[in-house]
This record gives sequence, C-alpha cells and structure tokens, in this order.
Amino acid sequence: MDILIATRNNDKVREISEILDLPDTRFVGLDGFPDCPEAEETGRTFDDNAMIKASQAAYYSGLWSLADDSGLVIDALDGQPGILSARFAGPDYRDNWMKVLELMQQVPAEKRTARFICVLCLVGNNNRAFFTRGEIEGTITAEPRGSNGFGYDPIFLPTGFDRTFAELPPPEKNRISHRAQALKKMRALINGLAAPGSPKT
Ligand code: IMP
Repeated sequence: MDILIATRNNDKVREISEILDLPDTRFVGLDGFPDCPEAEETGRTFDDNAMIKASQAAYYSGLWSLADDSGLVIDALDGQPGILSARFAGPDYRDNWMKVLELMQQVPAEKRTARFICVLCLVGNNNRAFFTRGEIEGTITAEPRGSNGFGYDPIFLPTGFDRTFAELPPPEKNRISHRAQALKKMRALINGLAAPGSPKT
C-alpha cells in the first residue's frame, strides 16, 4: 500500500515514515505530484487544517493521504498562537518565540501553562477521514534555553522535566512529543484498518 504524506518537506516525509514504521507500506511525498497546489490553511482548528491538507492531496493523487497540523496553545494568551503558530510574528522561529515572551512579560509563573498539539488526518480514497491527536503539557519559560529542535522549543518546558524541548536531546523530545503521540496512535489506526475483517475506507 502507498501512503502520500502531504508535504513537500522530505525531512518530514522521512521522519514520519520512520516513526510509523509500517511493513508493506511505501511512503511518498508531494514532490511526486507537482500539479497538486499548495493547500490553503483556512480552517479554524488543527483538525480543519489537517483535513484540508490531506483531502487535497488525496484528491490530486488518488492515494491515501496523511497530513499533520500542529502548534502551541498558551492559556494566558487565550490559546494563541494556536493554528497561527508557524507565522505568529512572521516566518522566523526566533521572531515568533520573542513575540510570545514579550506578550507574556507580566504573566506570573503559575499562569504560564501551555501545550503543544498535533493532529494527524488520514484520508482514504473514498474521502473518509480518520484523525489522531497528541498533546504535551508544559509551561512557557521567562527566557529562551537550549539550541536543539525548532520553532518554540527554546521556551517550552514540558511538565515533569527541568529542560526545555530545545535542551532535551532530540531522541528524548521525539519520544514524548505531541507529534510522536499522534503518530503512535495513527500507526495503531492504520494497522487496525489493514487487519482482516475491518471496515475498509
Ligand atoms: P504546521 O507546519 O502548520 O503544522 O505549523 C507548525 C508550527 O507550530 C511550527 O512552525 C512551529 O512554529 C510550531 N510547532 C509545532 N510543533 C513544534 C515543536 O515540536 N516544537 C516547536 N514548535 C513547534
């Protein structure tokens, strides 16, 4: 079986296919489908946007397609940056976490709660959609710490850890992250769909 991962980022295709690690499944990226336009993330939720990306990829390819949408949800900022995480201040990671730290300058430690959320959507060839979700709770630090990872990693301290996502070694972050949790659930879901007797999409 072929599954299209709805991204042109080949690092993401490799990372997702390695974590899913499904036998008898070949993962391909959108690079093989130059006619598929860039999906417009016009949804109001992570679920909406993951489904927009997966449905469009399935439509153009005729393949089962998997897309993710993720971001950082901060309670003291009424859920911002949320679905706008990738472009909160602009395209630059540093600008984005600086904007968060600035907006939160006056927020006391006990009110700095936040979570990373990742939603995965798999669209089958009759357009039925399956979702999994991963979340990791934490707090926003007062200062950036660490140089690993990407995005908001330097300012996110996962609950139960004394190191930010950017201070953790990548394998440790990848074991606990919102993305890893959503992918583990997706792996189980795909295995269930492939099992004899399960309803086919
Ligand atoms: P997406 O590519 O539309 O899902 O946007 C995800 C954005 O959320 C990224 O550009 C990051 O800013 C942020 N984000 C998602 N996951 C992480 C993470 O694991 N670490 C840091 N930032 C993340």
